[in-house]
Amino acid sequence: MLVLGIESSCDETSAAVIKDGREVLSNIILSQKEHTKFGGVVPEVASRVHLKTVVPIYEEALEAAKVTLDDIDLIAATMGPGLVGPLLVGLTFAKGLAFTKDIPFIGVNHMEGHLSANYLEHPDLNPHHISLVVSGGHTMLMEVKSFGEYTMLGNTIDDACGEAYDKVAKIMGLGYPGGAKLDKLAQKGKKDAIQFPRALLKEDSYRFSYSGLKTAVSLYIQKLSESELKEQLNDIAASFQEAAIEVLVIKTLKAAEDKNLNHISLSGGVAANSRLRSMFEERIGDNQKLFYPSIKLCTDNAAMIAAAGYFRFQKDGAGSLNANAVPYLKLAK
Ligand SMILES: Nc1ncnc2c1ncn2[C@@H]1O[C@H](COP(=O)(O)OP(=O)(O)OP(=O)(O)O)[C@@H](O)[C@H]1O
Ligand SMILES: [Mg+2]
Repeated sequence: MLVLGIESSCDETSAAVIKDGREVLSNIILSQKEHTKFGGVVPEVASRVHLKTVVPIYEEALEAAKVTLDDIDLIAATMGPGLVGPLLVGLTFAKGLAFTKDIPFIGVNHMEGHLSANYLEHPDLNPHHISLVVSGGHTMLMEVKSFGEYTMLGNTIDDACGEAYDKVAKIMGLGYPGGAKLDKLAQKGKKDAIQFPRALLKEDSYRFSYSGLKTAVSLYIQKLSESELKEQLNDIAASFQEAAIEVLVIKTLKAAEDKNLNHISLSGGVAANSRLRSMFEERIGDNQKLFYPSIKLCTDNAAMIAAAGYFRFQKDGAGSLNANAVPYLKLAK
């Protein structure tokens, strides 16, 4: 079964073709550069770039997969959460294709997409497992009971982890988006150089908080001269990263123990982080197993959307062409 995926929820225009939910035939991703000079995503600009690029990206995805639209069995597109203008561009384009060619259509939850990057690459991941989804807009710890059945264990009460990475990177003068750049600097710094707070670590809950950590880094940097900042940049990055990641790792491993589940999946843009991966590997129990997508499938891409569409289609059948963009679409209560 061939699934065409379309993703346009934020600042990546992407189209992909996957086979039988497990094999990526093509995954074309255009990361919009237009937002760099604004220091963040400008929704109106993003919508306009999606409009201009969605057709050529879709054509490139079909060509790279060596298929035509007539070969496609299902079209899956992100319907939320995300920015409403950008979402509407990809969703409307995908529904138009499905309607014209009478191909089954399915609207996909972007966060189910992130999680599904693991199903795409790891057939051995137990469907009943603990999932940590960490991205630019979300920090969610969930018990996945089976595909599409989620119990939310904990969420961030303020900023998302990726958002904190981007804001701290901006304060450090690394530009936008800064998560991956900060990760690179951190690898050259001392993790214990500065003691930044581990928010809610002592609280017996699965909740997260990142606004205090961001403020702590900001206050620390304000006291430095330009030359001191330059000198300490790697250590600040490494110390921030250690504080941001440690809470995620400790709470996720505790959830796995509490729920007696030994498979853990990571997904979302921050799952690309080198320290998140290495700290999990250091602290994970002998009976536990960690799964995460390859770097390209962590940040926004259409292959993960096609995968989520495939698995949802297996479970519930095709969706409706009345599916609308839902900016705050929820995955679980
Ligand atoms: N190596 C890395 N280390 C830390 N953060 C990273 C790394 N690579 C990417 N990120 C962060 O991941 C985020 C982007 O991920 P993603 O594309 O999943 O987010 P989004 O789509 O904007 O948000 P959401 O999926 O919640 O709607 C950014 O905040 C970026 O800084
Ligand atoms: Mg995303």
